[in-house]
Amino acid sequence: MFQSAAKTFSVATTTAATLTRGTWFSIRHYCNKTPARLRVSEAVSGAELGANVKVQGWIRSVRPQKENLFLHVNDGSSLQSLQVVASSELNHPLLTLGSAVEVTGTLRKSPRQKQPFELQADHIHIVGDCNPVDFPFKIKERHSLEYIRQFPHLRCRTNAFSSLLRIRSEATTAVHSYFKENSFVQIHTPVITSNDCEGAGELFQVEPSSPNNEEGEKFFSVPAFLTVSGQLHLEVMSGAFSRVYTFGPTFRAENSQSRRHLAEFYMVEAEVSFTQSLEDLTKVMEDMFRSATEHVLAHCAEDVDLFHKHVAPGHRDTVEVMLKNRFPVLTYSEAIDILKKSSQKFAFPIYWGCDLQTEHEKYLVKHCGNIPVFVTDYPYDLKPFYARDNLDHPEHTAAAVDLLVPGVGELCGGSLREERLDLLKARLEEAGLEDTYSWYLDLRRFGSVPHGGFGMGFERFLQCILGVDNIKDVIAFPRFSHSCPL
Ligand code: 4AD
Ligand code: MG
Repeated sequence: MFQSAAKTFSVATTTAATLTRGTWFSIRHYCNKTPARLRVSEAVSGAELGANVKVQGWIRSVRPQKENLFLHVNDGSSLQSLQVVASSELNHPLLTLGSAVEVTGTLRKSPRQKQPFELQADHIHIVGDCNPVDFPFKIKERHSLEYIRQFPHLRCRTNAFSSLLRIRSEATTAVHSYFKENSFVQIHTPVITSNDCEGAGELFQVEPSSPNNEEGEKFFSVPAFLTVSGQLHLEVMSGAFSRVYTFGPTFRAENSQSRRHLAEFYMVEAEVSFTQSLEDLTKVMEDMFRSATEHVLAHCAEDVDLFHKHVAPGHRDTVEVMLKNRFPVLTYSEAIDILKKSSQKFAFPIYWGCDLQTEHEKYLVKHCGNIPVFVTDYPYDLKPFYARDNLDHPEHTAAAVDLLVPGVGELCGGSLREERLDLLKARLEEAGLEDTYSWYLDLRRFGSVPHGGFGMGFERFLQCILGVDNIKDVIAFPRFSHSCPL
């Protein structure tokens, strides 16, 4: 029954074209009458009212009644589907949830309350049918994000995930707009690199799948990896551009089984030259966060509402409180004091010099009123070689900063960079990395300036503003350890 596709049903109508004696002019006349193709988002807002139009999309609901058939058709252009009203003569068993259709008819005002406009169909063409028994989504059920995650190849057909993808797309635009408006130059930093910027050894090595010559010579002369951060390449550029950024895929071979880690994620990174203090960075971090969040709330209101109503009820208030308040700043030492005084029992011990764990980060955010909070000046030994030495005593700290946010913990990590040649050289020598990073030392030899930057996990940003608990639900195709399904 479901093998045949491409069926066409129409009611005898005045719009059916009858090509009698096809003169040149009558053919042109016929072409002019070809119905305008409308996106669902245009149709639901009443574009081309009264005109003969064609809408293409996938069926989200079917409701046959005695005289009329009601369909909802969606093409991904908006959360709202277009209501199609047809004579029940046009009903057919292949019109089911998920099937692809092309509907022509007249767009008119709807007498029904729920939507102002609807399409009175006189022609329905089934482009691709969909067996409702095998299709994993059912018409009247509300499927959880967890359930739809099992179908990475089909979940874009649900309301929740298509909203997420539209929000993600708009948030990408928002990030680029922020940087454009603030005169940052975008740099395409490489995906394949031979540096381990973070020095944490969480690298995926890149090699050809089969040797490309008989001598077994390596493709790259030095080991090559998928990038863990574009920072060092941005630092190259910040020797010539005072404001640069990059936004692209980033890879970490760390345990990705958590709700905040992926093996492949997107990172927004910025680098600013001629900095005077960490405040030059926290300002960009805070402004970018606000500007991108406000842009998404303004441009994807309906889609965001779906999350704030059905996925994380009440999260809208959290977001509004975040936007209303300036983000407080704590030093790492102050943060440790707060954690030590807390009555909460933490799984990981608190002492000056400990790495802050998610449980600590979440506590600090709550402590500050459930708004984003900057933690600055971390122990020098916890930070990678590039972090600027504060040369303080007796505590020895680096000018590094993390932005912690509600529900997620660490959203951004950044620092001022060590621009002083002698200090950087000494630290690289200590780590035995002087040769590997001789090019990086050159940046300090030729016109070095105080500079700094940060990286923001794009998926964590989406989790934070939408209230989504699991990072796998905010990226189209999540990759994590033990799984790479598509
Ligand atoms: O704190 P991280 O490791 O900082 C850096 O990589 C710096 N080099 C960035 C810079 O200064 N240009 O990573 C930055 C952010 C984290 O705060 C987190 O939000 C995100 O990237 N992140 C991850 N997101 C998802 N999955 C993972 N495995 C992530 N690891 C880091
Ligand atoms: Mg970090």
